[in-house]
Amino acid sequence: MSQDYQGFTLWFTGLSGSGKSTLAHHVEEALRARGIRKIEMLDGDVVRTNLSKGLGFSKEDRDTNIRRIGWVCEVLTRNDVVAIAAAISPYRAVRDEVREKVGRFVEVYVECPLDTVVARDVKGLYEKALAGEIKNFTGVSDPYEAPLNPEVVVHTGRESEEESMGKILRALEELGYLPHEM
Ligand code: ADX
Repeated sequence: MSQDYQGFTLWFTGLSGSGKSTLAHHVEEALRARGIRKIEMLDGDVVRTNLSKGLGFSKEDRDTNIRRIGWVCEVLTRNDVVAIAAAISPYRAVRDEVREKVGRFVEVYVECPLDTVVARDVKGLYEKALAGEIKNFTGVSDPYEAPLNPEVVVHTGRESEEESMGKILRALEELGYLPHEM
């Protein structure tokens, strides 16, 4: 059956607990509501239970994780699937490498102050990281390199989810990846 849209990759990056997965899932629902049927989600936490099982959090392992996710996004995108990735992806160089390979790539920087993600501590990991029980924790004892030129920046510490969603969907429309809503 023919379809009237081309694939692209929507890549969420940001600290743990910043809201990447939540936003990614809601964007997926919004895209389905607009008639896009072929969408695949690559969530960091899920990918680490299968494709990247066994990898840790050294720079080398994180880069391997991101290259794997990026490769899947590339293959999906060229087959006109919308690939949505939600992993911390803390290193700029490897994100840019994925961008180059995918081509049709939209980077969403999910910005949230460290204080806020620490206060939320959805998974209880920041408390452990701050106590030194988890080493190399992004934002606490490991780097996070914010994108310099992302297509979209959302500030989940101070804007509503509707606002953030609106920014992402508008950007997809303006970039020509999604038809304007009637
Ligand atoms: S990435 O750096 O390789 O992109 P990814 O998104 O797959 O990370 O996984 C991040 C998740 O792993 C976090 O949300 C958190 O639940 C968990 N995690 C466990 N250890 C760490 C750590 N040292 N740094 C960051 N996240 C960690």
